[in-house]
Amino acid sequence: MDGGYAEYMVAYVDSLSSIPNEISVMEAASLMCAGKTTFSAIKNCKARPGDLVAIQGIGGLGHLAVQFESKAGFLTLAISRGNNKEALARELGALH
Ligand SMILES: NC(=O)c1ccc[n+]([C@@H]2O[C@H](COP(=O)([O-])OP(=O)(O)OC[C@H]3O[C@@H](n4cnc5c(N)ncnc54)[C@H](OP(=O)(O)O)[C@@H]3O)[C@@H](O)[C@H]2O)c1
Repeated sequence: MDGGYAEYMVAYVDSLSSIPNEISVMEAASLMCAGKTTFSAIKNCKARPGDLVAIQGIGGLGHLAVQFESKAGFLTLAISRGNNKEALARELGALH
């Protein structure tokens, strides 16, 4: 929508996320587009907690998806082009 960086804007209500008071604006900023995109994908897919899910690419979105999925109780598989992100992926909650 026009005005995304303005102080006020008009948006569809189902595109909005409520930010709890305990989360600062600085912390919430990192969850905007990347967080909403990955969270929506998890919420709207047919997989349910306990299912095995794979995250392709541990980048800006992928590292959030690994955290959301592992905390929601999915069995999380992180797929990367090398093993240099293995320690990070496991730290974020990936099982494999
Ligand atoms: N950032 C946002 O806020 C945002 C929001 C909505 C949508 N998007 C879209 O989501 C996509 C990912 O964005 P991002 O910010 O997460 O990008 P990113 O940080 O560059 O991460 C993309 C990951 O994809 C993997 N990758 C890159 N080239 C590959 C290749 N040739 N083969 C296999 N894997 C490859 C890499 O993972 P490994 O290094 O682990 O192999 C890389 O870390 C983009 O299309 C972007 O436009 C981004």
